[in-house]
Amino acid sequence: MKIVVIGGTGLIGSKLVAKLKQQGHEAVAASPKSGVNAVTGEGLAAALAGADVVVDVANAPSWEPADVLEFFERSSRNLVATEAAAGVKHHVALSIVGTDRSPDIGYFRAKLAQETIVKASSVPYSIVRATQFFEFLDAIGEAGVTGGKVVVPSASFQPIASDDVADRLAEVATGRPLNGTIDIAGPEKAPFNEFVARRLKASGDSRPVVGDRQAQYYGSPIDDTSLIPLGEARLGKTALATWLARA
Ligand SMILES: NC(=O)c1ccc[n+]([C@@H]2O[C@H](COP(=O)([O-])OP(=O)(O)OC[C@H]3O[C@@H](n4cnc5c(N)ncnc54)[C@H](OP(=O)(O)O)[C@@H]3O)[C@@H](O)[C@H]2O)c1
Repeated sequence: MKIVVIGGTGLIGSKLVAKLKQQGHEAVAASPKSGVNAVTGEGLAAALAGADVVVDVANAPSWEPADVLEFFERSSRNLVATEAAAGVKHHVALSIVGTDRSPDIGYFRAKLAQETIVKASSVPYSIVRATQFFEFLDAIGEAGVTGGKVVVPSASFQPIASDDVADRLAEVATGRPLNGTIDIAGPEKAPFNEFVARRLKASGDSRPVVGDRQAQYYGSPIDDTSLIPLGEARLGKTALATWLARA
């Protein structure tokens, strides 16, 4: 199958392209670096010619609420329109668990807008909602630095290894369109601050990590139901300890 991975040079995209190639597919990484811009539409029609499947794992350069909303709305509209014209049979989008539960988080609003555009299009689709990647723990910790401490929410958290996300995306992309949404998460659930503390400790960072029920996540308070799957979810196989030992 010809599978075009939009954002195929990124964290998830590069792992996904490698996996699909290993499986014998014609996997093509498409992104601004290869002259394909989903927001402006540059290079899109040529990249999608003859594609069976498109996987969208692009990410916005700016996460300011207005910027990220514009990025995911414009890129998703361009993608599904170009796919429909090219006869693409399956669009796969990577979204985030809980995008519909925290409307005060600008990034989540943008991902929900992306999902809405994908669902409304004529192209058969699958939406894979993942929890936060282990690789994202550093950035989350940095966002909570206050004086000499790291203050983060204490809400339930269930992050996942990016390798496990790429594995599941490869399965979905090579299967039949779900015309629905699935959740994927890591194998362990614990308070948010515990994951950040374990990550910092493993990297030799001795700053104390404080779990605070009032601490905000990207500008919004969160609770135990905000970021974890509430229904059925496929769990990744990689525990944080395993990932930390490799990182
Ligand atoms: N971080 C998390 O914990 C988390 C959790 C669940 C879901 N997600 C979702 O996972 C997806 C992938 O995230 P990631 O961390 O792998 O992203 P990333 O490493 O930041 O990579 C971003 C990719 O998007 C490409 N890109 C940027 N602008 C583009 C444009 N205008 N047109 C086409 N491609 C463009 C980049 O291409 P260049 O290399 O050419 O610039 C790069 O390949 C995102 O959609 C994100 O919302 C993230």
